[in-house]
Amino acid sequence: MIKQFDAYSLLNRNTFGIEAKAARFVEFSSTDALRAFLGTGFAGESLVIGGGSNLLFVGDFDGTVFHSAITDIEIVEETATDVLLRVGSGVNWDDLVAYTVEKGWYGLENLSLIPGEVGASAVQNVGAYGVEAGDLIEKVETIRIADVAACLFTKIDCDFAYRHSIFKDAEKGKHIVTYVTYRLKKAADFKLSYGNLKDKVDELGGATLANVRRAVCEIREAKLPNPAEIGSAGSFFMNPVVTAEKAAQLKDEYPAMPQYQLSDGNVKLSAGWLIEQCGWKQTPHSHVGVYKHQALVVVNLGGATGNEVLDFASAVVDSVKEKFGVCLNMEVNVIG
Ligand code: EPU
Repeated sequence: MIKQFDAYSLLNRNTFGIEAKAARFVEFSSTDALRAFLGTGFAGESLVIGGGSNLLFVGDFDGTVFHSAITDIEIVEETATDVLLRVGSGVNWDDLVAYTVEKGWYGLENLSLIPGEVGASAVQNVGAYGVEAGDLIEKVETIRIADVAACLFTKIDCDFAYRHSIFKDAEKGKHIVTYVTYRLKKAADFKLSYGNLKDKVDELGGATLANVRRAVCEIREAKLPNPAEIGSAGSFFMNPVVTAEKAAQLKDEYPAMPQYQLSDGNVKLSAGWLIEQCGWKQTPHSHVGVYKHQALVVVNLGGATGNEVLDFASAVVDSVKEKFGVCLNMEVNVIG
Protein backbone atom coordinates (compact mmCIF):
# COMPACT_ATOMS: atom_id res chain seq x y z
CA MET A 1 0.00 0.00 0.00
CA ILE A 2 1.08 3.59 -0.71
CA LYS A 3 0.00 6.61 1.32
CA GLN A 4 0.65 10.03 -0.24
CA PHE A 5 0.35 13.51 1.19
CA ASP A 6 1.09 16.94 -0.34
CA ALA A 7 2.58 19.94 1.53
CA TYR A 8 3.31 17.59 4.42
CA SER A 9 4.58 18.95 7.76
CA LEU A 10 7.78 17.22 8.88
CA LEU A 11 7.61 18.65 12.41
CA ASN A 12 6.82 15.27 13.96
CA ARG A 13 9.13 13.44 11.56
CA ASN A 14 12.43 14.91 12.81
CA THR A 15 13.69 14.51 16.37
CA PHE A 16 15.12 18.07 16.38
CA GLY A 17 11.51 19.26 16.34
CA ILE A 18 12.08 21.70 13.47
CA GLU A 19 9.14 22.85 11.34
CA ALA A 20 9.63 22.20 7.60
CA LYS A 21 7.36 21.03 4.80
CA ALA A 22 7.87 18.38 2.14
CA ALA A 23 6.21 19.03 -1.23
CA ARG A 24 5.16 15.38 -1.14
CA PHE A 25 5.39 12.60 1.47
CA VAL A 26 5.09 8.98 0.35
CA GLU A 27 4.87 6.01 2.70
CA PHE A 28 5.12 2.48 1.31
CA SER A 29 4.30 -0.75 3.13
CA SER A 30 5.85 -3.25 0.69
CA THR A 31 8.58 -3.53 -1.93
CA ASP A 32 5.94 -4.15 -4.62
CA ALA A 33 4.00 -1.02 -3.67
CA LEU A 34 7.19 1.05 -3.80
CA ARG A 35 8.22 -0.37 -7.19
CA ALA A 36 4.76 0.23 -8.60
CA PHE A 37 4.85 3.84 -7.40
CA LEU A 38 8.35 4.53 -8.79
CA GLY A 39 7.49 2.70 -12.01
CA THR A 40 4.83 5.23 -12.94
CA GLY A 41 7.60 7.66 -13.91
CA PHE A 42 8.77 9.21 -10.66
CA ALA A 43 10.99 12.25 -11.16
CA GLY A 44 12.34 15.04 -9.04
CA GLU A 45 14.33 15.30 -5.85
CA SER A 46 13.93 12.60 -3.24
CA LEU A 47 14.85 12.09 0.38
CA VAL A 48 14.44 8.90 2.38
CA ILE A 49 13.59 9.43 6.01
CA GLY A 50 13.58 6.89 8.84
CA GLY A 51 12.91 8.07 12.37
CA GLY A 52 14.26 11.52 11.41
CA SER A 53 16.86 11.28 14.16
CA ASN A 54 19.86 12.35 12.09
CA LEU A 55 18.43 15.21 10.06
CA LEU A 56 18.42 18.97 10.33
CA PHE A 57 15.93 20.83 8.14
CA VAL A 58 17.06 24.36 7.28
CA GLY A 59 14.16 24.97 4.90
CA ASP A 60 11.28 23.21 3.18
CA PHE A 61 12.05 20.19 0.99
CA ASP A 62 10.82 20.78 -2.53
CA GLY A 63 10.69 17.13 -3.50
CA THR A 64 9.36 13.75 -2.33
CA VAL A 65 10.14 12.36 1.10
CA PHE A 66 9.90 8.56 1.22
CA HIS A 67 9.22 6.65 4.41
CA SER A 68 9.21 2.89 4.79
CA ALA A 69 6.35 1.19 6.60
CA ILE A 70 7.74 -2.28 5.80
CA THR A 71 7.65 -3.87 9.24
CA ASP A 72 7.83 -7.64 8.78
CA ILE A 73 10.56 -9.70 10.46
CA GLU A 74 11.45 -13.16 9.19
CA ILE A 75 14.00 -15.82 10.13
CA VAL A 76 15.58 -16.71 6.79
CA GLU A 77 18.10 -19.22 8.14
CA GLU A 78 18.74 -20.84 11.48
CA THR A 79 21.64 -23.10 12.43
CA ALA A 80 22.88 -24.44 15.77
CA THR A 81 24.91 -21.25 16.24
CA ASP A 82 23.37 -18.47 14.13
CA VAL A 83 20.09 -16.82 13.23
CA LEU A 84 19.73 -14.81 10.01
CA LEU A 85 16.97 -12.27 10.51
CA ARG A 86 15.52 -10.31 7.57
CA VAL A 87 13.93 -7.15 8.86
CA GLY A 88 11.76 -4.55 7.13
CA SER A 89 13.38 -1.11 6.87
CA GLY A 90 10.48 0.55 8.70
CA VAL A 91 10.87 -1.43 11.92
CA ASN A 92 11.71 0.79 14.89
CA TRP A 93 15.34 0.11 15.81
CA ASP A 94 14.91 -0.32 19.53
CA ASP A 95 11.85 -2.57 19.02
CA LEU A 96 14.13 -4.83 16.96
CA VAL A 97 16.81 -4.84 19.68
CA ALA A 98 14.18 -5.62 22.36
CA TYR A 99 12.77 -8.44 20.21
CA THR A 100 16.19 -10.08 19.64
CA VAL A 101 17.06 -9.81 23.35
CA GLU A 102 13.73 -11.41 24.28
CA LYS A 103 14.39 -14.25 21.80
CA GLY A 104 17.84 -14.85 23.35
CA TRP A 105 19.79 -13.89 20.21
CA TYR A 106 23.08 -12.08 20.79
CA GLY A 107 24.59 -9.17 18.86
CA LEU A 108 22.39 -6.07 19.00
CA GLU A 109 22.17 -5.58 22.78
CA ASN A 110 24.84 -2.81 22.95
CA LEU A 111 22.81 -0.86 20.39
CA SER A 112 19.78 -0.55 22.69
CA LEU A 113 17.76 2.67 22.70
CA ILE A 114 19.35 4.22 19.60
CA PRO A 115 16.57 6.26 18.02
CA GLY A 116 15.58 5.59 14.41
CA GLU A 117 14.61 2.73 12.13
CA VAL A 118 16.19 -0.35 10.58
CA GLY A 119 16.81 1.17 7.11
CA ALA A 120 18.91 3.96 8.61
CA SER A 121 20.92 1.49 10.71
CA ALA A 122 22.52 0.34 7.45
CA VAL A 123 22.92 3.77 5.88
CA GLN A 124 24.46 5.44 8.96
CA ASN A 125 26.13 2.32 10.34
CA VAL A 126 24.81 3.31 13.76
CA GLY A 127 27.09 2.42 16.63
CA ALA A 128 27.45 2.60 20.39
CA TYR A 129 29.41 0.98 23.24
CA GLY A 130 31.92 -0.76 21.00
CA VAL A 131 29.47 -2.27 18.47
CA GLU A 132 28.34 -1.02 15.05
CA ALA A 133 25.28 -2.21 13.12
CA GLY A 134 27.59 -3.08 10.21
CA ASP A 135 29.27 -5.75 12.39
CA LEU A 136 25.97 -7.68 12.35
CA ILE A 137 24.64 -6.83 8.89
CA GLU A 138 24.79 -9.65 6.34
CA LYS A 139 23.07 -7.88 3.46
CA VAL A 140 20.99 -4.87 2.51
CA GLU A 141 18.14 -4.93 -0.03
CA THR A 142 17.20 -1.73 -1.84
CA ILE A 143 15.21 -0.37 -4.73
CA ARG A 144 17.31 1.87 -6.99
CA ILE A 145 15.27 4.99 -7.64
CA ALA A 146 16.52 5.72 -11.18
CA ASP A 147 15.52 2.39 -12.79
CA VAL A 148 13.40 0.77 -10.05
CA ALA A 149 15.82 -2.20 -9.96
CA ALA A 150 15.90 -4.46 -6.90
CA CYS A 151 19.53 -4.40 -5.63
CA LEU A 152 21.37 -6.52 -3.09
CA PHE A 153 24.44 -5.28 -1.22
CA THR A 154 26.55 -7.74 0.78
CA LYS A 155 28.38 -6.63 3.93
CA ILE A 156 31.54 -6.09 1.83
CA ASP A 157 29.64 -4.05 -0.78
CA CYS A 158 28.31 -1.82 2.00
CA ASP A 159 31.87 -0.66 2.84
CA PHE A 160 31.03 -0.05 6.50
CA ALA A 161 33.31 2.16 8.59
CA TYR A 162 32.78 4.53 11.53
CA ARG A 163 29.40 6.23 10.84
CA HIS A 164 29.92 5.45 7.15
CA SER A 165 28.56 3.18 4.42
CA ILE A 166 28.42 3.17 0.61
CA PHE A 167 24.92 4.69 0.98
CA LYS A 168 26.54 7.88 2.35
CA ASP A 169 29.18 7.83 -0.39
CA ALA A 170 29.16 6.40 -3.95
CA GLU A 171 25.49 5.30 -3.73
CA LYS A 172 24.27 8.35 -1.79
CA GLY A 173 20.68 9.33 -2.55
CA LYS A 174 20.28 6.59 -5.17
CA HIS A 175 18.49 3.88 -3.17
CA ILE A 176 15.57 3.19 -0.89
CA VAL A 177 16.38 0.47 1.62
CA THR A 178 13.62 -2.14 1.91
CA TYR A 179 15.14 -4.94 4.05
CA VAL A 180 18.24 -5.45 6.16
CA THR A 181 19.42 -8.95 7.13
CA TYR A 182 21.34 -9.34 10.40
CA ARG A 183 23.41 -12.34 11.52
CA LEU A 184 22.78 -12.91 15.23
CA LYS A 185 24.37 -15.48 17.50
CA LYS A 186 22.86 -18.08 19.80
CA ALA A 187 25.83 -18.00 22.21
CA ALA A 188 27.08 -15.05 24.24
CA ASP A 189 29.98 -12.95 23.00
CA PHE A 190 29.50 -9.79 25.04
CA LYS A 191 31.42 -6.61 24.25
CA LEU A 192 31.67 -4.83 27.60
CA SER A 193 34.97 -2.99 27.40
CA TYR A 194 33.56 0.45 26.45
CA GLY A 195 33.61 3.03 29.28
CA ASN A 196 31.84 1.90 32.45
CA LEU A 197 29.58 -0.67 30.73
CA LYS A 198 31.09 -3.70 32.50
CA ASP A 199 30.75 -2.06 35.96
CA LYS A 200 27.13 -1.23 35.23
CA VAL A 201 26.41 -4.81 34.07
CA ASP A 202 28.11 -6.21 37.20
CA GLU A 203 26.00 -3.91 39.39
CA LEU A 204 22.89 -5.39 37.74
CA GLY A 205 24.00 -8.96 38.57
CA GLY A 206 26.39 -9.95 35.76
CA ALA A 207 26.46 -10.42 32.01
CA THR A 208 23.16 -11.64 30.57
CA LEU A 209 21.45 -10.31 27.46
CA ALA A 210 18.77 -8.58 29.56
CA ASN A 211 21.34 -7.01 31.90
CA VAL A 212 23.51 -5.69 29.06
CA ARG A 213 20.44 -4.14 27.44
CA ARG A 214 19.35 -2.62 30.76
CA ALA A 215 22.84 -1.27 31.48
CA VAL A 216 23.10 0.36 28.04
CA CYS A 217 19.61 1.87 28.43
CA GLU A 218 20.49 3.28 31.85
CA ILE A 219 23.80 4.77 30.64
CA ARG A 220 22.08 6.34 27.62
CA GLU A 221 19.17 7.67 29.66
CA ALA A 222 21.61 9.37 32.05
CA LYS A 223 23.71 10.95 29.28
CA LEU A 224 21.47 11.60 26.29
CA PRO A 225 18.26 13.62 26.02
CA ASN A 226 15.00 11.77 25.41
CA PRO A 227 13.93 12.90 21.89
CA ALA A 228 10.30 12.93 23.10
CA GLU A 229 11.20 15.68 25.60
CA ILE A 230 14.15 17.64 24.16
CA GLY A 231 14.74 18.16 20.44
CA SER A 232 18.11 16.86 19.23
CA ALA A 233 19.62 14.56 16.64
CA GLY A 234 21.85 12.63 19.04
CA SER A 235 25.55 13.23 18.31
CA PHE A 236 25.65 16.30 16.12
CA PHE A 237 29.33 15.86 15.15
CA MET A 238 31.48 12.82 14.48
CA ASN A 239 34.42 12.14 16.75
CA PRO A 240 37.47 13.56 14.93
CA VAL A 241 40.44 11.44 13.94
CA VAL A 242 43.95 12.95 14.07
CA THR A 243 47.48 11.73 13.38
CA ALA A 244 49.50 10.14 16.20
CA GLU A 245 51.81 13.18 16.09
CA LYS A 246 48.96 15.67 16.56
CA ALA A 247 47.45 13.47 19.31
CA ALA A 248 50.78 13.41 21.21
CA GLN A 249 51.10 17.18 20.94
CA LEU A 250 47.53 17.64 22.29
CA LYS A 251 48.13 15.15 25.11
CA ASP A 252 51.20 17.16 26.23
CA GLU A 253 49.14 20.30 26.40
CA TYR A 254 45.92 18.69 27.75
CA PRO A 255 46.86 15.55 29.73
CA ALA A 256 43.19 14.80 30.60
CA MET A 257 42.09 14.65 26.94
CA PRO A 258 40.42 11.26 26.16
CA GLN A 259 42.14 9.58 23.19
CA TYR A 260 41.46 6.22 21.50
CA GLN A 261 44.16 4.47 19.49
CA LEU A 262 42.89 3.21 16.09
CA SER A 263 44.32 0.18 14.30
CA ASP A 264 45.59 2.34 11.40
CA GLY A 265 47.87 4.34 13.73
CA ASN A 266 45.62 7.40 13.90
CA VAL A 267 43.92 8.52 17.09
CA LYS A 268 40.22 9.26 17.69
CA LEU A 269 39.34 12.18 19.98
CA SER A 270 36.09 12.83 21.85
CA ALA A 271 34.20 15.68 20.21
CA GLY A 272 32.07 15.98 23.37
CA TRP A 273 35.14 16.62 25.53
CA LEU A 274 36.59 19.17 23.09
CA ILE A 275 33.26 21.05 22.93
CA GLU A 276 32.86 21.02 26.72
CA GLN A 277 36.39 22.46 27.12
CA CYS A 278 35.38 25.37 24.89
CA GLY A 279 32.72 26.26 27.47
CA TRP A 280 29.62 25.49 25.41
CA LYS A 281 27.76 23.77 28.26
CA GLN A 282 27.53 27.23 29.88
CA THR A 283 26.83 29.32 26.77
CA PRO A 284 23.65 28.53 24.85
CA HIS A 285 22.68 30.82 21.94
CA SER A 286 19.03 31.84 22.46
CA HIS A 287 17.12 28.74 21.23
CA VAL A 288 20.08 26.39 20.81
CA GLY A 289 22.66 24.85 23.14
CA VAL A 290 24.51 21.63 23.95
CA TYR A 291 23.07 19.01 26.31
CA LYS A 292 24.16 19.41 29.92
CA HIS A 293 25.34 15.78 30.24
CA GLN A 294 26.85 15.34 26.74
CA ALA A 295 28.24 18.32 24.83
CA LEU A 296 28.28 16.38 21.55
CA VAL A 297 24.51 16.64 21.44
CA VAL A 298 23.18 19.96 20.14
CA VAL A 299 19.70 20.62 21.55
CA ASN A 300 16.70 22.68 20.49
CA LEU A 301 15.89 24.67 23.64
CA GLY A 302 12.47 25.46 22.17
CA GLY A 303 11.36 27.00 18.88
CA ALA A 304 14.80 26.90 17.19
CA THR A 305 14.95 27.15 13.40
CA GLY A 306 17.28 24.94 11.39
CA ASN A 307 19.45 27.94 10.51
CA GLU A 308 19.83 28.90 14.17
CA VAL A 309 21.06 25.37 14.88
CA LEU A 310 23.47 25.60 11.96
CA ASP A 311 24.83 29.00 13.10
CA PHE A 312 25.34 27.62 16.60
CA ALA A 313 27.11 24.55 15.20
CA SER A 314 29.47 26.76 13.13
CA ALA A 315 30.38 28.74 16.24
CA VAL A 316 31.15 25.43 18.02
CA VAL A 317 33.30 24.22 15.09
CA ASP A 318 35.22 27.54 15.00
CA SER A 319 35.92 27.45 18.74
CA VAL A 320 37.24 23.87 18.65
CA LYS A 321 39.41 24.70 15.62
CA GLU A 322 40.81 27.77 17.36
CA LYS A 323 41.53 26.13 20.74
CA PHE A 324 42.74 22.69 19.62
CA GLY A 325 43.46 23.02 15.89
CA VAL A 326 41.00 20.13 15.29
CA CYS A 327 38.27 20.12 12.65
CA LEU A 328 34.83 18.78 13.62
CA ASN A 329 32.62 17.30 10.91
CA MET A 330 28.87 17.08 11.21
CA GLU A 331 27.23 13.69 11.58
CA VAL A 332 23.80 15.18 11.02
CA ASN A 333 22.50 15.57 7.43
CA VAL A 334 21.46 19.11 6.63
CA ILE A 335 18.41 19.29 4.31
CA GLY A 336 16.67 22.17 2.59
N1 EPU B 1 32.97 13.66 27.34
C1 EPU B 1 33.14 14.82 28.06
N2 EPU B 1 32.17 15.77 27.99
C2 EPU B 1 31.05 15.62 27.28
C3 EPU B 1 30.87 14.42 26.54
C4 EPU B 1 31.87 13.45 26.58
O1 EPU B 1 34.15 15.01 28.74
O2 EPU B 1 30.21 16.54 27.29
C5 EPU B 1 34.00 12.59 27.43
C6 EPU B 1 33.48 11.41 28.26
O3 EPU B 1 33.71 11.59 29.64
C7 EPU B 1 34.29 10.25 27.71
C8 EPU B 1 34.45 10.62 26.24
O4 EPU B 1 34.24 12.03 26.15
O5 EPU B 1 35.58 10.23 28.26
C9 EPU B 1 33.50 9.84 25.33
O6 EPU B 1 32.13 10.11 25.70
P1 EPU B 1 30.94 9.07 25.44
O7 EPU B 1 31.28 7.75 26.03
O8 EPU B 1 29.68 9.71 25.89
O9 EPU B 1 30.95 8.83 23.88
P2 EPU B 1 31.09 9.80 22.63
O10 EPU B 1 32.34 9.46 21.93
O11 EPU B 1 30.88 11.22 23.03
C10 EPU B 1 29.97 8.12 20.95
C11 EPU B 1 28.86 8.12 19.94
C12 EPU B 1 27.51 8.02 20.64
C13 EPU B 1 27.49 6.73 21.45
C14 EPU B 1 28.66 6.74 22.46
C15 EPU B 1 28.80 5.44 23.18
C16 EPU B 1 29.72 9.36 18.06
C17 EPU B 1 29.61 10.59 17.21
N3 EPU B 1 28.92 9.30 19.12
O12 EPU B 1 29.84 9.31 21.73
O13 EPU B 1 26.52 7.93 19.63
O14 EPU B 1 26.27 6.57 22.14
O15 EPU B 1 29.91 6.95 21.74
O16 EPU B 1 29.30 4.49 22.30
O17 EPU B 1 30.49 8.47 17.74
C18 EPU B 1 24.90 9.11 18.32
O18 EPU B 1 25.54 8.78 17.35
O19 EPU B 1 23.87 9.81 18.26
C19 EPU B 1 25.40 8.74 19.66
C20 EPU B 1 24.82 9.17 20.78
